[in-house]
Amino acid sequence: MTPILHSPAWKHAERHAHGLRDHHLRDMFAADPARFQRLSLRWNDWLLDLSKQRVLPETLPLLAGLWDAADVPGWIAKMRAGEPINHTEGRAVLHVALRHAGGPVTVDGRDVMPAVRAVLARMRDFCDAIHSGKWRGATGEPITDVVNIGIGGSDLGPRMATQALAAHRVPHLRVHYVANLDGADLATTLAGLAPRTTLFVIASKTFTTQETMQNAGSARAWLTAALGDAAVARHFVAVSTALDKVAAFGIDPDNAFAFWDWVGGRFSLWSAIGLPLALAIGFDNFERLLAGARAMDEHFFAAPPLENLPALLALIELWNADFLGLQSRAVLPYSQSLALLPRYLQQLEMESLGKQIDRDGKLVGCPTLPILWGEPGTNGQHAFYQLLHQGGRALSCEFIACREPDFPIAGHHEKLLANCFAQSAALMQGKTEAEALAELQATVPPAPSFLAPYKIFPGNQPSTTLLLPRLDPHNLGALVALYEHKVFTLGVLWHLDAFDQWGVEYGKQIAGSLLPMIEGRTPVAGIDGSTAGLIAACGNSSHR
Ligand code: F6P
Repeated sequence: MTPILHSPAWKHAERHAHGLRDHHLRDMFAADPARFQRLSLRWNDWLLDLSKQRVLPETLPLLAGLWDAADVPGWIAKMRAGEPINHTEGRAVLHVALRHAGGPVTVDGRDVMPAVRAVLARMRDFCDAIHSGKWRGATGEPITDVVNIGIGGSDLGPRMATQALAAHRVPHLRVHYVANLDGADLATTLAGLAPRTTLFVIASKTFTTQETMQNAGSARAWLTAALGDAAVARHFVAVSTALDKVAAFGIDPDNAFAFWDWVGGRFSLWSAIGLPLALAIGFDNFERLLAGARAMDEHFFAAPPLENLPALLALIELWNADFLGLQSRAVLPYSQSLALLPRYLQQLEMESLGKQIDRDGKLVGCPTLPILWGEPGTNGQHAFYQLLHQGGRALSCEFIACREPDFPIAGHHEKLLANCFAQSAALMQGKTEAEALAELQATVPPAPSFLAPYKIFPGNQPSTTLLLPRLDPHNLGALVALYEHKVFTLGVLWHLDAFDQWGVEYGKQIAGSLLPMIEGRTPVAGIDGSTAGLIAACGNSSHR
């Protein structure tokens, strides 16, 4: 059980939450004209507004007691010292080393920084060779299209960041991502491409993942059918911790970019897993991304919890989940470029914290991570916001916006911001029956009063707004690192190993035993009736 459950700070927070139960956010704003100033934080030119969360100014200092009770600073020190804090896999957790700029960082007594810098240098050389046209395909033509084949952490980070930094892309090179085992993903991506000018990046930490290996094999078949086996050396590179398996697949070791088992898949954007992103935006921009993450690292390591962005996001999440009973969080970027951020955060947060068993093998003893989902605004407003406003479900929302647009077209950005701020205001304040009636009566002619109940909004729906100056490589790096450190902090608070993912294994195991039945190689036996019925309904694979 997480030790903080027994701490005085937890008990205090419980009593405090009880006292807050009947407070409405609208009244909290009315009672305290300085609420925004008290509950918002600036970091460089960022603004984190927590004033629309269901907290009082004294709530956050109270929650900060949990930071000490769980000894978050002690765990930060363990992480930075390369201790195996991923205890179920016996691994260090050192993604921060990938963007570190100072002295040695050691794992098992060895400084990892020379190897980190060497891979970054090779990535730069490779990006320059592709961009300059020095690297040619088997027929002597320059590369025009890069296809990253990977899944989970070997896909979501670079894919999200490539879209997020679309305004910073290098010209004349298109970068595509294929992840799904469904052949439709690969087939539709390859449909518009020419083997002569296409480069594949096979990205897999383990180089055993079924989806990636299947897609990589099919991509190789597509390439060699057109150009022959010898072309693989000019059209395939790999990113992995398992360089022996890369060689066994047939990729030249000179075309392999290493990373290390102390980099978790969902924390690997900063490693060679970021290669397709670096190809898309250029290596100088990739370095700016690393620098942004480093700035957030330095902030997280040094700032006290009440002035610490990742700490505050973690404490608010814990408050909402464990004290207010909110079990869902919508991430709502008012930025089309951040459209994939919710999906990226689903892996980062849910694969890390979607757990109930703590570091001692016991139940955590309180709810852990709420379900995370989301879509960019304003699209979501025309889909699911109805439920947010009037569906009667308590959940929290996270709005992310940028003061400046990354694609300035006159007339768009002000409207985008107006919608973003309007939604959090509406969710916070709601609309009373009296206000709804007054509104109906104010129309000419007055609208019928039976409509009033439909126009009532309960409000009191908490939200956070994060306002960035603009979306550029530096700010994106800091944004991703912000969420990484939030995850780290919650892992400590809930006494969880946030760096393993045993929950994804069981389904894979069963799929392995079903495949020979679906292929008709073994009889359909030893499985439940529903699964057997579904397999029977598909017929023998020779008929498909
Ligand atoms: O989803 C499980 C998982 O192991 C993730 O943690 C990882 O990011 C993904 O699969 C892909 O793994 P790999 O990079 O080894 O192919």
